[in-house]
Amino acid sequence: MPGRDEWWRNAACYEVYLRSFADSDGDGIGDLPGLRSRLRYLRDLGVDALWITPFYPSPQVDHGYDVSDYTDVDPRFGTLGDFDAVLEGAHQMGLRVIIDLVPNHTSAQHTGFRAAMAAGPGSPERGRYHFRPGQGRGGLRPPNNWRSAFGGPAWTRVPGAEGQADEWYLHLHHQEQPDLNWASPAVGDEFESVLRFWLDRGVDGLRIDVAMCLAKDPRYPDLRRGDDRHPYHNRPEVHEIYGRWRAVLDSYPGDRMMIAEAVAPDAAGLARYVRAGECHQVFNFAWLETRWSAADFRRIIKDTLDAVRAVNASPTWVLASHDAVRTVSRYATSGPNGNAVGLERARAALLVMLSLPGSAYVFQGEELGLPQVDVPPSARRDPAWVQSGGSMPGRDGCRVPIPWNKGEQSCGFSPAGSSAPWLPQPQSWGELSVADQERDSSSTLAFYRKALRIRRTVLGGLDDGVVILPSAPGTLVLARDPGFICVLNCGSRPARPPAGDLILSSTHRPGSLLPPNSAAWFHTGGTNWVSRR
Ligand code: GLC
Repeated sequence: MPGRDEWWRNAACYEVYLRSFADSDGDGIGDLPGLRSRLRYLRDLGVDALWITPFYPSPQVDHGYDVSDYTDVDPRFGTLGDFDAVLEGAHQMGLRVIIDLVPNHTSAQHTGFRAAMAAGPGSPERGRYHFRPGQGRGGLRPPNNWRSAFGGPAWTRVPGAEGQADEWYLHLHHQEQPDLNWASPAVGDEFESVLRFWLDRGVDGLRIDVAMCLAKDPRYPDLRRGDDRHPYHNRPEVHEIYGRWRAVLDSYPGDRMMIAEAVAPDAAGLARYVRAGECHQVFNFAWLETRWSAADFRRIIKDTLDAVRAVNASPTWVLASHDAVRTVSRYATSGPNGNAVGLERARAALLVMLSLPGSAYVFQGEELGLPQVDVPPSARRDPAWVQSGGSMPGRDGCRVPIPWNKGEQSCGFSPAGSSAPWLPQPQSWGELSVADQERDSSSTLAFYRKALRIRRTVLGGLDDGVVILPSAPGTLVLARDPGFICVLNCGSRPARPPAGDLILSSTHRPGSLLPPNSAAWFHTGGTNWVSRR
């Protein structure tokens, strides 16, 4: 692999939600050999890197985000040899590989947690997790009011053995995902060896799951609205952890990176993760949480750029992930044509995202224009749905397995004669298949390929700066030097495009005016665009 070229600064990264990408062995669950067989598809799509969701041994309570062994592969997903083959195959095609590290919590089946349960109160084994006495008479109430992200209290009671007190353990997610105690030096040491294990194998990057939660207030106070410092979000101690990891990454040859999954009250809070000597990037979810509005997009772009520039980092942009409602449905309007409008908007938002400096994270299936699926309640598998007793819809609807080929069983997700896919695909899923879209030059897949190719060949040569130009209400106009303009129309009336030549439009109806729910790229001279395209 090449040396330190900071490839991640402007990369287009593709999130592979492994369970739902491609199933090679017919068990209805995607796996590493399946991914390997589709690497060519990803290369042809025009992305630079893959982020693969967790494939480690795991009871799969949270579909892999409950890890029972950090240095192996779950047999459902393949073997370590299969992982090496994916890595080698990806590298041969010029694709970088980012793996997903889950340091906030383990599975309750991890040997460390099983030892803690067996060892009892006050033991060093329990010191690696958060075990606390309960409140009130007999300690029958949880230690504090913290809540699990999936609903219910964040504490589970463990009855003491003969003569021992009961304790409670902390899980900010499912009760099968006990939180590690990062104040224990043993935890930091163990994770450093996990990092080295995967860096030695040759991975290019790490995505850090729930990066803002690792440090907890050692007094375990109740969570109160308006507290100056949150008891477990974005505490200063987390930054020491990433500083240590950064030193490890920097000691390796090549250009290894880490990207934090963090949520902070504002862009400046997020930028603390990407200060010198810490993470290379942090996910910027602001866009994913915003309605269809040029004014909101303008604000997010400005705030993001201001915050990351202050610390000399590169921004990231995300429209979709395995945790969010799919973009097409998020932007859909009510009424019979709702999803068609949603798709137009998703294509337009892609053009805006790809025209910005920094890196863009694309979630599998975005390139097919997949909508959110209303998975029947009896088939839902997300712990958020199950643990909340149905009060949270859960995330299954964006995780339905990819349709590769209309005519085949499971739309080509699994080989013929396989078990049903782990989440049911809707009847119409095949219409959106890769094979069908490859045959249609006006498909969403063809559009993504074109946009990603132009981004790589032409936009990659633009300056890092971007200027937001004054524009009519409901529109957003971005300019980059030399001679590039992106226009987005979120308004209800057609908008006038800038003087210049059209490079690419998100809409099937390009004309002299830019229709509502569309975006387009233009060049306004200054460089030899046509020959570079
Ligand atoms: C992250 C993952 C999500 C998972 C959670 C707990 O937010 O993206 O899928 O449920 O962490 O690990």
